[in-house]
Amino acid sequence: MEGLDLDSVLEEQDAVAPAPEFVQAAAVSDPDALRARAAEDPEAFWAEVASELDWFKPWDRAVDWDLPFARWFPGAQCNITHNAVDRHLSTWRRHKAALIWEGENGDREVFTYAELAREVNRGANGLRALGVGRGDCVTIYMPVCPQQAIAMLATAKIGAFHSVVFGGFSAEALRDRMNDANAKALITADGAYQRGKVVPLKATCDAAVADCPSVEHVIVYERLGTAVEMVTGRDRTWAELTDGQASESTAEVMEAADPLFVLYTSGSTGKPKGIMHSHGGYQVGAYATTKWVFDLQDTDLYWCTADSGWITGHSYIVYGPLMNGATVFMAEGAPDFPDAGRWWSIIERYGINILYTAPTAVRMFMRLGEEWPDKYDLSSLRLLGSVGEPINPEAWRWYHRVIGGGSCPIVDTWWQTETGSILITALPADPQKPGSAGLPFPGIDADVVDEHGNRRPDGVGGYLVVRRPWPSMLNGIYGDPDRYRDTYWTTVDGMYAAGDAAVRDADGYIRVLGRTDDVLNVAGHRLGTMEIESALVAHEAVAEAAVIGIPHEVKGEVPKAFVIAHDHVEPGADLEAELRESVAQQIGKIARPQVIEFVGSLPKTRSGKIMRRLLKAQERGEALGDTSTLDPGSIPD
Ligand code: WTA
Repeated sequence: MEGLDLDSVLEEQDAVAPAPEFVQAAAVSDPDALRARAAEDPEAFWAEVASELDWFKPWDRAVDWDLPFARWFPGAQCNITHNAVDRHLSTWRRHKAALIWEGENGDREVFTYAELAREVNRGANGLRALGVGRGDCVTIYMPVCPQQAIAMLATAKIGAFHSVVFGGFSAEALRDRMNDANAKALITADGAYQRGKVVPLKATCDAAVADCPSVEHVIVYERLGTAVEMVTGRDRTWAELTDGQASESTAEVMEAADPLFVLYTSGSTGKPKGIMHSHGGYQVGAYATTKWVFDLQDTDLYWCTADSGWITGHSYIVYGPLMNGATVFMAEGAPDFPDAGRWWSIIERYGINILYTAPTAVRMFMRLGEEWPDKYDLSSLRLLGSVGEPINPEAWRWYHRVIGGGSCPIVDTWWQTETGSILITALPADPQKPGSAGLPFPGIDADVVDEHGNRRPDGVGGYLVVRRPWPSMLNGIYGDPDRYRDTYWTTVDGMYAAGDAAVRDADGYIRVLGRTDDVLNVAGHRLGTMEIESALVAHEAVAEAAVIGIPHEVKGEVPKAFVIAHDHVEPGADLEAELRESVAQQIGKIARPQVIEFVGSLPKTRSGKIMRRLLKAQERGEALGDTSTLDPGSIPD
């Protein structure tokens, strides 16, 4: 465990108990009993959960486990879109609102389940008419809007798989993701609003598609209705795609393990990994966790502030809530635009009941001041959630007191793109401990162990692992089974290692301490240090670069780069600005280093690997620790 600062320095926090009325009315009022029942026979438990969903053909067995590959529900046939949309049409939910959206400029849209079904079906039929179908990849590069969800559902309905790329990523990042997955079609929008400005999504797509030979079709949803360049034969609007298409469409019958989506996430090499999820297992995890973690009731208006460019949007804006027949609220734009009251005004005006957001947003609002939320009536809220990074106890308490009025439970949900759904959280009826994610979800065998897989004693840090397979676990890395095995199954033999360090307390609550690999967590978003380093080295002035994370008050962590410039160039503020811009161009603004320090050398091992750990220790003014592998000739000046 070289380089891990595993002994936690944070003080144990007092537990906060939910109100008895809340517990009584909760979907799971006795979480211990549910966990105990699931632990007795996890496979039977998951099969029981799965049987709450519709399947076209039942499974032969719950799971085939051939380490490290698991196949959940072999023999079963299904399509997640049937459970997310179609099955509600024969119930009273037919005319219930499925999606309510507000644009940054005040535009509003509502789709009932019946309307959602019609639009998904017309989109599915339109895609089929273009020759897109089973096994094809459709990339989606859109703002947060109902059509983003509709594009995902239409793709999944016809048996194609989607690759949603966050609208903040650059043309180059979009291009690489389309090429890796061999995308056949790209669905985008003419643009979107962000802080009052137009984000020109279609123009970015044009730049990306120029280098993507596999992309045959570009479909443009007219979010703004402004004129954008259209390439004849290749491009059409969403209206043209769906015009004249029937509002009925049959769902493709998928094997449980058939791909539903690929989602790219950063790892510790320069190349993002395409994490694969499938229809059968994923739907069970997303469904069960949404139901129990968010305590979803039919009367709730539920708002997850993520973007479907990230896994949180996939599982907790689109698939999980819709499978539960929920009413989902979505908003376009920045949280503090036109002013710091935007979110609180939305909560008051719509009467939001459940709010699921990220610690970075909470810290930003803390800094903007309590007077903003205080201006609004937030009393409709009954449950709060947190995701993406550890929430510091101070932010937890502020969120609880100021936003939750001291009475809303906070579910601090730990999970990953790879896990597909929430694996560790206190359920709403459990006592919550600020800063601690909580207990493994029922049926999840997560724990804290040493490198040999031995359980760590309470209070002693170690690797966060999962011992047994779970339904929504990744199906692999697109096109790279070896990388799947190497990344997740070799740190601790025979166990899934998440890449996080954690510590368990005497009550079994797990607190996540941070990443153990070269991955940064910037405002809850994962970025690989190698990815940023590759972007820097791509610049002609740069000879070598090393990136580490440094603490940031709001974003949690931001990239800092150490750069060795070529001999002939003059390092200085101009070059620094140019390099920051170049990283934004190549990856996206979120990856832009906050600070660039020009250095003469970088600490390396004798085999030439950059020792980022030493740079981090030096940055924090800490002892360098074990330097036996350091090449003495490489010590920084
Ligand atoms: C971190 C986001 C502490 C963690 C859903 C994980 C968290 C990575 C939490 C996955 C949490 C996420 N407490 N850390 N509640 N949630 N993380 O794939 O380091 O974007 O490994 O998935 O975020 O990030 P990803």
